[in-house]
Amino acid sequence: MSYFRKIVVSAATLLALTSWSAQAKEFRLGLITPPPHIWTKAAEAFGEELSEASGGAHSVSVFPARQLGNEAEMLQQLQTGALDMAFMTVAEVSNRAPELGAFYAPYLADDIGHAGRILRSDTAKSMLEPLPGQVGVVGVGYGMAGLRQIVSRGEINSSEDLSGLKLRITPFTPILDFYNAVGAAPTPMPLPAVYDALANGQVDAIDMDAELIWVLKYYDHADTIVQSDHMMFPMVGLVSAKVWAGLSDDDRAMVAELMAKHVDSTIDSYVEKEAGWLEQIEGTGKAYKKVDASFFGDAIGEWNAIWSEKTSSLDALRETAASTQ
Ligand code: BEZ
Repeated sequence: MSYFRKIVVSAATLLALTSWSAQAKEFRLGLITPPPHIWTKAAEAFGEELSEASGGAHSVSVFPARQLGNEAEMLQQLQTGALDMAFMTVAEVSNRAPELGAFYAPYLADDIGHAGRILRSDTAKSMLEPLPGQVGVVGVGYGMAGLRQIVSRGEINSSEDLSGLKLRITPFTPILDFYNAVGAAPTPMPLPAVYDALANGQVDAIDMDAELIWVLKYYDHADTIVQSDHMMFPMVGLVSAKVWAGLSDDDRAMVAELMAKHVDSTIDSYVEKEAGWLEQIEGTGKAYKKVDASFFGDAIGEWNAIWSEKTSSLDALRETAASTQ
């Protein structure tokens, strides 16, 4: 680098430092996923880029693996301003903002790429607008995990085989309604408890995505993997509305742009990797069954009937899904 260019760069850095230092902030960002998970890596990349973009004025400490509590607890901390930021399942947020339950319409997305296109739509973005008033958080954009599959300790040949099974679900209402309609005994359980619960038979089956089935080896304690792809699993980048209110316009713009970029990057990661994980799971030699919506019979109609009463966004999301196929 030439001497002149060095001076220009240093001056720019100094200017950045001076202008940001008045509002320098050490943000804390919580999430429930373990350190190697795609969401955690994206959170760390966001922190690094925010620090660079602010000339080192801002930093982000990332707390993965539920170090700050489960998602319900983190959402409360965001509301009081005790926590600045989170990458959180839309599932948890939908417990406070039921409109977001529309994303879990069974087979709304045809495949993982389609799920990504739905989440990148204006319809999806508009569904974040009420969050500050309704939940006390600002939603800057969506990410996602893989489509949902079923891992079972016993043989599964039809949806009747799910009847009465203690089936682990992420704790949120749309999935509870789905498995109740299927006739299973849905058992809400946070992610960190799942491995032991499946290993020791506390649950008979789990609802899970391909990444975690493969990376955390849930298949080890299973006889059957049902690749059903029955639901998408969105994530949202959140900032406490209280913290947001205290940021300058420049800081808000920078945080929003960079956080949205990094949560969005998770969509590309799942689109790229999902098929590979599924292939590897199939290659384990466990019974592997690919099914579609017909496997679940009337359960899907039942879910649609319940949720068309609970959310007004279902039609708009379906229109968006049709136009992004
Ligand atoms: C789950 O509850 O299954 C889950 C939570 C966060 C990321 C992926 C999966």
